[in-house]
Amino acid sequence: MKEISINLTIKCYDSYEELSDSDERRLCNSAFESLNHAYAPYSNYKVGAAVLLDDNHIVEGSNQENAVFPLGLCAERVAIFSSNTLYPKAKIKAIAVVTLGDVEKGKFPGFPCGSCRQVMIDMEYRHQQNIKVFVLDKNKNLLVVDSVKELLPIAFDHSAL
Ligand code: THU
Repeated sequence: MKEISINLTIKCYDSYEELSDSDERRLCNSAFESLNHAYAPYSNYKVGAAVLLDDNHIVEGSNQENAVFPLGLCAERVAIFSSNTLYPKAKIKAIAVVTLGDVEKGKFPGFPCGSCRQVMIDMEYRHQQNIKVFVLDKNKNLLVVDSVKELLPIAFDHSAL
């Protein structure tokens, strides 16, 4: 018998304004901006996202709900699919996600759901480049994970097909 253990490292910042990289600060700010375009009348849970590309473009996305509930789409996937359409050759360097929900002290803010993690990891495989994940709460508190692989270990990928 042998054991396999999996590491997850989360860097915690009191505010995204502490980030030394100005593009990463811009990315977090864009995620907040995109909250203004969320359409979430059914859940009342607005999510803003933004992706930072290797050519330094930033593409925003927000959750878009529908009266037929399963048809809605998460903010992260709106941002990723838009950036693939607008800048098909660019690689995604990072994604930021923000929710307005109250976060109980000591608890994590809203991390990307499993479906969004799967879409993000596909982008890592596709471009052979890690994507940093920035998770923010409404008070600008920031958690950073350096690769989607840490959030979705042992993922399904194209090599299984
Ligand atoms: N949502 C996101 O936009 N991203 C996630 O990673 C989790 C959930 C949205 C979907 C739905 O509009 C609302 O949040 C409540 O689930």
